Amino acid sequence: MPDDSQRNIRTRLSKKLFVKTYGCQMNVYDSGRMTDVLARLDYLETETVEDADMIVLNTCHIREKAAEKVYSELGRLRALKERRREAGGDLMIAVAGCVAQAEGEEMARRAPVVDIIVGPQTYHRLPDLITRHAREGGTVIDTDFPARDRFTSLPSRRHGAGRVAFLSIQEGCDKFCTFCVVPYTRGAEFSRPARDILDEAKALLASGVVEVVLLGQNVNAWHGEGTDGRPWTLARLIGELASLDRLRRIRYTTSHPSDMSGDLIRAHGEIDSLMPYLHLPVQSGSDRILKAMNRRHTTADYLGVIAAVRKARPDIAISGDFIVGFPGEDDADFAATLSLVREVSYASAFSFKYSPRPGTPAATADGQVPDEVKAERLGILQHLLKDQQNTFNRATVGHTVPVLLERRGRYSHQLVGRSPWLQAVHVDAGERHLGSLIDVTLTEARANSMAGMLAA
Ligand code: 5AD
Ligand code: SF4
Repeated sequence: MPDDSQRNIRTRLSKKLFVKTYGCQMNVYDSGRMTDVLARLDYLETETVEDADMIVLNTCHIREKAAEKVYSELGRLRALKERRREAGGDLMIAVAGCVAQAEGEEMARRAPVVDIIVGPQTYHRLPDLITRHAREGGTVIDTDFPARDRFTSLPSRRHGAGRVAFLSIQEGCDKFCTFCVVPYTRGAEFSRPARDILDEAKALLASGVVEVVLLGQNVNAWHGEGTDGRPWTLARLIGELASLDRLRRIRYTTSHPSDMSGDLIRAHGEIDSLMPYLHLPVQSGSDRILKAMNRRHTTADYLGVIAAVRKARPDIAISGDFIVGFPGEDDADFAATLSLVREVSYASAFSFKYSPRPGTPAATADGQVPDEVKAERLGILQHLLKDQQNTFNRATVGHTVPVLLERRGRYSHQLVGRSPWLQAVHVDAGERHLGSLIDVTLTEARANSMAGMLAA
């Protein structure tokens, strides 16, 4: 550990890096790893754009007019870069993530202010790209798909001193839901070998982490090589992780209903450190729409999985994703979605208006739904989901559960953590409890969180 004077010198000599992250947890993870990679070049993270010598926009392409948002951000950064140059300095701008992957050359043409364009599979090569940019000038582009190479070329992670860490175990998707860009931007499904995952987990545990969140676009499709050379399932991997000393909590996200295998469902009943929370997107409650979405499952399949998981782990909190206004969705289809929601009863959920993604089959399908209809359906669905979330939260009041106190709250003497069901819990507790996994009695359900107090 450097002493303060060393640290001050380091701070002054280092270049400053500002990373702006859009989108999913996968991107949050990737941003952390990019920060690690750049730390080897002596880039220190800063919270302010104005201080930065390098800015990375880690972009998301899943919904909305993502590319347009990035271009307007780049417009603002161009002005900043010009001011910097007038003052005799410089500013390096990199665009990473799925918009970089999808736009590539087009971005270099439209926004020459960008120095580096790097896809989600190749950001471990950032140091080389920076060198190439210094040598060649212009915009340097790297948007290949060598997934394994990426995982093995990253330095051991230092990002995030906290107790919870994301651990990426799977990348890409072969499902090709007709609304989704992920198979195009993140490429084919790839499972990281168990040895690499276990080694990274051990390093995380050694640095004080007690909860890992296993990440993948299709995490429960993970089928990596086991330490015995044979293919393992996610349940097997979770079992191995659970046996590591000091690992107290395991979560995984995001899953596909067709990959909820029997052993994974059983794991929820058998492994204490596997948290009672499952994010299982269904998207729609209409079989006709599920078929048009190419989801590869019916509502009955989905409800069957939910029933089995609840049987294995009765208190499990179920979360999901929904899309309203998919092409061809009529009132009856939407009513079927509401009825599925009523049947499942969600602890939390994300819901979106269908957003046509260029290059995906649904974008050009007949029966596009007008925006007013989408907005109305979304309002109704979100109202119901919010109600269910309140019901779930209220039902947990009075329970005493372990809460991992991860950060300071808005008020002094307040810490915020997560319950096993992933609720945010605000606890009246002093600084010395920061980072501890401690029993808390849940006392009140609020709009988006819980209040609790330390159990005696
Ligand atoms: N329009 C709206 N929502 C989408 N999602 C993915 N693609 C689209 C789209 N084109 C949602 C799905 C998915 C979540 C991550 O984002 O619900 O599960
Ligand atoms: Fe997209 Fe479907 Fe793959 Fe999920 S399963 S990433 S929604 S294509």
